[in-house]
Amino acid sequence: MKYTLNTNNNPANDSTDCLVIPVFIKDKEIILSESGKLLDEANSGSIRKILDKGDFKGAVGSTMMLHDISTNSSRVMLMGCGDQSNFDVKQLNISVKAAGKVLKNSVVKTVSLYLSETSSNAPLDKNQAITQTIIAFADSLYTLLDYKSNKGDECSLEKLSISCVDEFDDENTAALKNGIAITEGMKVTRDLANHPGNVCTPTFIADTATDIANDYKNIEINILEESDMEVLGMGSFLSVSKGSDEPGKMVILQYSGAKDKNEAPIALVGKGVTFDTGGISLKPGAKMDEMKFDMGGAAGMLGTLKACAEMQLPLNLVVVLAAAENMPSARASKPGDIVTSMQGTTIEVLNTDAEGRLVLCDALTYVGKFKPRIVIDAATLTGACIVALGHQICALLSNNDDLANDLLDAGLHVNDQTWRLPMNDDYKKQLKSAFADLGNIGGPGAGTITAACFLGEFTKDYHWAHLDIAGTAWNGKNATGRPVPLLSQYLINMAKKNN
Ligand code: BES
Ligand code: MN
Ligand code: ZN
Repeated sequence: MKYTLNTNNNPANDSTDCLVIPVFIKDKEIILSESGKLLDEANSGSIRKILDKGDFKGAVGSTMMLHDISTNSSRVMLMGCGDQSNFDVKQLNISVKAAGKVLKNSVVKTVSLYLSETSSNAPLDKNQAITQTIIAFADSLYTLLDYKSNKGDECSLEKLSISCVDEFDDENTAALKNGIAITEGMKVTRDLANHPGNVCTPTFIADTATDIANDYKNIEINILEESDMEVLGMGSFLSVSKGSDEPGKMVILQYSGAKDKNEAPIALVGKGVTFDTGGISLKPGAKMDEMKFDMGGAAGMLGTLKACAEMQLPLNLVVVLAAAENMPSARASKPGDIVTSMQGTTIEVLNTDAEGRLVLCDALTYVGKFKPRIVIDAATLTGACIVALGHQICALLSNNDDLANDLLDAGLHVNDQTWRLPMNDDYKKQLKSAFADLGNIGGPGAGTITAACFLGEFTKDYHWAHLDIAGTAWNGKNATGRPVPLLSQYLINMAKKNN
């Protein structure tokens, strides 16, 4: 799929398979966007006449295909965008996705999609709209077909031209490139996470990361095997991976984009549990298949790296993927086992299903050796996060207010929202162990917070934020590609600050 900016400012002069024209609701009336008015004028009011019939109401997510408009394009799609006065990135996402879904199943090859005019006081800027249009459109076209014998009809779409009644500038071109890069990163994340657990093993994650590293001159990769991790004293990580026949891997990728090769990197750490049975603290059977997505944090960080490398952002990154399978076996950890982490902190494994924090804590200690200026981890860490925030918003916990605020801003900008939860010291009490320095569970209350507090014991040397993506990494049976937009936008913003 090709994405471009269309320099033609009037849909009546376009010649494409499908014009997509935004339609809004204003004071309960259905109204045409500026592009719609231009097309309507060139057709002596025929579009307005159709709207006046009242069948199409312009609701966000609704579409109507018109075949009888006489213009150089073969068809016109009216894209319902909902209330104009509040039109924001979320509404744009829903409306473009709806348009994409219809076009995906059509014979249309080329599309010219008109942006809603943003010169009005709508809370959405043009760059944001361009980036989001690409993200939403690509989202609507996505499927993983590797395992289907019948792959269905091939999608005929070839090109989406983003169009506007006024001119585009250089910043708009950058927004286009960012959108394309984010989309490619999201695809890496979704493909990796959608593969089943028997395919996507820790070794598969390492191989996928190697492929990506090989695609870019400025990415280096280094893989720690279990034997290396033993030497490093990563007893916490190994206590999880030892229960499985699949060897655990710690994958380290280094991207050098900053002018100064020695500039302190931003570190991204991902939970890569390729299947979480719960271990000896076995999970119930219902929906256990979804625990193939428990490597969503690692997939998200790899996708973010891909996006960053596509954009060639001028900053340095270290990405660490903590990949292991959590299985019950004769070699698995038992409740009550005590292990020693790389940092030296001893941990009583009171529940083998709280394995994410066990693999992450050693990764978080290890990443300290790169002297990062910021560390962000992403993990499908707690079911409690879904109770708190559902599938809409991911949880953010941090030991630094500026970092937290930057992430909140980036998420809102790109429609991949986070919400900050507290991690006051008094929650830490819940992690007390009778025998070791720390227990790996914090009891029934505030599960997302106590999980973050556990990680916080390993992140004291640097500015750190934790994203609990348990509710947002997948939806039903499909990986979402989140938090790639959030983290990519954050890195775009950081790169701007840098220069
Ligand atoms: N991977 C799960 C968290 C999870 C559960 C994510 C359901 C998405 C959907 C994690 O390893 C886990 O099992 N967490 C436990 C922690 C508990 C034992 C303290 C949980 O949330 O139940
Ligand atoms: Mn678990
Ligand atoms: Zn897990």
